[in-house]
Amino acid sequence: MADSVTADPATPVAARPTGDPLLVLSGVNKHFGSLHVLRDIDLTVNRGEVVVVIGPSGSGKSTLCRTINRLETIDSGTITIDGEPIPAEGRALARLRADVGMVFQSFNLFAHKTVLENVTLGQVKAKKVKPAQARLTAAELLERVGVADQAQKYPAQLSGGQQQRVAIARALAMKPKALLFDEPTSALDPEMINEVLDVMVGLARDGMTMVVVTHEMGFARRAAQRVVFMDAGRIVEETDPETFFTAPSSERARDFLSKILTH
Ligand SMILES: Nc1ncnc2c1ncn2[C@@H]1O[C@H](COP(=O)(O)OP(=O)(O)O)[C@@H](O)[C@H]1O
Ligand SMILES: [Mg+2]
Repeated sequence: MADSVTADPATPVAARPTGDPLLVLSGVNKHFGSLHVLRDIDLTVNRGEVVVVIGPSGSGKSTLCRTINRLETIDSGTITIDGEPIPAEGRALARLRADVGMVFQSFNLFAHKTVLENVTLGQVKAKKVKPAQARLTAAELLERVGVADQAQKYPAQLSGGQQQRVAIARALAMKPKALLFDEPTSALDPEMINEVLDVMVGLARDGMTMVVVTHEMGFARRAAQRVVFMDAGRIVEETDPETFFTAPSSERARDFLSKILTH
């Protein structure tokens, strides 16, 4: 029995799936024309795990997230979610998008819908929840992210931090199996960053499976089990946050950290 789980000694410990795999990327490659943006990506995210993805601009972090809910197709390799390959189209793809929610840097709320409608719509359209029930769920989620008093306003009437919390509530309303965050605090004024990170830490504590592209070290240390460092389309290093931030093993990670720590 023990033999069957003996991993290749060349595989980094953190890359060995030890828990209950929810998202599994295997040998994933992606090009934009002649640009090779994802190179042989192997990544397993276990149920309930929080993985922070970090790396220089242009290293492929956003593309990685976007392939996981098929906002981008891949050229080779496989991606499975809960054991199922990502569906190419149709209803199965819509279901996948509900299962794997995404929170973007730019919030992406519907500008002409109220906050409550933003969190209600997807439930009714994609999940066929009855409108009255959807509104109840939306109100609960807005309470959970601390913006219940903004429910009747339009996104433009909210601060960036409030809008991003609404975007998180909207993603949660779909009852996702996992959430992807692509630099969720990069567009925010500094004083609003923590109100968003606190909500995300709360989700992590509640056991949500999360892939979070962020350079917020405090979040990584508080909430992540693992940091994945990307450079030029490759996963160069993956380890626990403390080790990554204090003793990264690759030269490229050391170089990157020296830049983000001294600015
Ligand atoms: N739709 C696209 N078409 C062409 N090139 C793209 C597209 N999206 C991203 N790229 C390029 O792919 C590389 C990786 O981009 P991205 O995944 O956004 O990196 P990151 O999020 O780490 O900054 C960059 O060189 C970027 O310019
Ligand atoms: Mg990006």
